[in-house]
Order: sequence, then C-alpha cells, then structure tokens
Amino acid sequence: MKIGIFDSGIGGLSVLQEAYHQLSGQEYIFYADTDHVPYGNKEPEEILGYCRNTAAFLIEQGVSAILIACNTATSVAVRQLRQELELPIIGMEPAVKPAVEQTEEKRVLVMATPVTLRETKLKNLIERVDEHHRVDLLAMPELVRFAESEQFDSPELHAYLEAQFSKVHPEEYSALVMGCTHFNYFKDLYRNYFPDYTAFVDGNVGTIRHLMRKLDLPAEAAEAQDIRIHFNDPEELLQHTTYYMSGRRVQEKEMLEHFLRLHNRLEEMRKF
Ligand code: DGL
Repeated sequence: MKIGIFDSGIGGLSVLQEAYHQLSGQEYIFYADTDHVPYGNKEPEEILGYCRNTAAFLIEQGVSAILIACNTATSVAVRQLRQELELPIIGMEPAVKPAVEQTEEKRVLVMATPVTLRETKLKNLIERVDEHHRVDLLAMPELVRFAESEQFDSPELHAYLEAQFSKVHPEEYSALVMGCTHFNYFKDLYRNYFPDYTAFVDGNVGTIRHLMRKLDLPAEAAEAQDIRIHFNDPEELLQHTTYYMSGRRVQEKEMLEHFLRLHNRLEEMRKF
C-alpha cells in the first residue's frame, strides 16, 4: 500500500522510522513542509491551508491513506481533512494517556508546541485522562528550529534546554511526553536533566498501531521490531520511501545524506 506521511518538517521521520519497525512491504511518500516550518507558532487557519495543500499533493501521488506525523497539524486540521477527503486520515496526539496510566504517584510533563498546548484537542484529552491532576505542560517551540538545522549538541541548544527545564522540577516526573515529533531527536540530552525513572514517552508506537488497525495491515514479528535499523547509503532510504520537501522531490546526494543522518539519529534515540 502507498502511504503518505507528512509533517511541518523532519519531526515526522520519527513516525516513519517507527513504521519501518512495525510494518514491512509498504511504500511511503514522506512530505516535510520545510518551506513553512515551524507550524507551532502560526495561526490555525494558516496551518490548515498548508495541510490541505499537502494532502492534495499526496493524493495526486496516489496514496491510499494519509498519516499526519505532526501533533500540531493534527490538532488544528484532522477533523477538517476527514470531512473534506475520502481516504483514511490518521492523526497523532501527545501520548498523555499511556503516560498517565503508567504513573502511580509522580507527575507527567507534556512538552509540545504553543499551538498544540492552546488547542482544545489536547485540553479535552487531558480532561478525559488526567483524573488526579498530575499533568503539567511545557512549551518547547525552539526545539523545532534546532532539529531542522541538525543541531543536536550546540552550546545554544544546551543553554535553551537548561533554561526551559529550570522552570520545572525534573525529579517530580515519572514520564516526559514528546508532544511534538521533532522532540524525539533530543532524548539523549533530556537524560541529563531527568532521572532514570523518568520514562520518555512518544506517540509513535501507538500511532503506527492505529494506522495498522485502520488499514488492516499485518504487524511484523515482535523480534523484528527490536532489530536495529541503520542506513549506510541513501539508496537504502529510497527503497521504501520517496521524500519531498514542500513539493520538491529530494534527490540530491547532500539532502539525502541529511535525511539518512536524521534516520540514524532517531534510531539511536530509541535507546533513551
Ligand atoms: N512536528 C510538529 C509536531 O509534532 C510541529 C513542529 C512545528 O512547530 O512545526 O507538533
């Protein structure tokens, strides 16, 4: 099956990476809307417009389903796109429910973009699952920019994390929720602030399972899911996926190597 996956940028590669772990034999079109990233501080109407254009582009490429690999885009556009389009649209939301369920005494910290934190979709979710009022929220808008420029160890990034995490008490949390797909790139660094008992929870596993149920796709064996996926050559990436940046096909070696490094970094981050 041909599946379209889109994000404002490269955060959605973490969802594609999870699809590689859980599914085989599918063909993907990955669309990073890098001309318009970040979405997380834009007006909902503007984001909805970008999502409509991207969905139309993916449909033109012949996809049978669309996965919105972006919490921000899902919170403002998923309902509308489902109403307007015929094909299955799978969205994603911060994994607050599993985080709350695995937390008995301590608290849950949800990091997301300002738009996701403001939208009613997340508010409704928290109201539904956070019976004991243990969920706190933290906006991390700048991490999107750091990820897009492949900054995973710069002094500026360290200073940003330091400043943001000094607003909370990390030892209070048993779960840190990646409420934005771009945030998956920095799991090694969060470990410098959060104790070993803080679980880093992302929505990728749940999102791919949801996609599989919806499209009736068979799962890979559990042991295959644990295999490490490392790409050595851009050609290997292109065996499964065609990549686009805001409608332009990614073909030049330098850009493909950028995507390859990002996939390999995301694979590394699965350890944390
Ligand atoms: N990756 C997106 C998300 O999951 C948003 C990043 C952005 O602000 O563009 O929310």
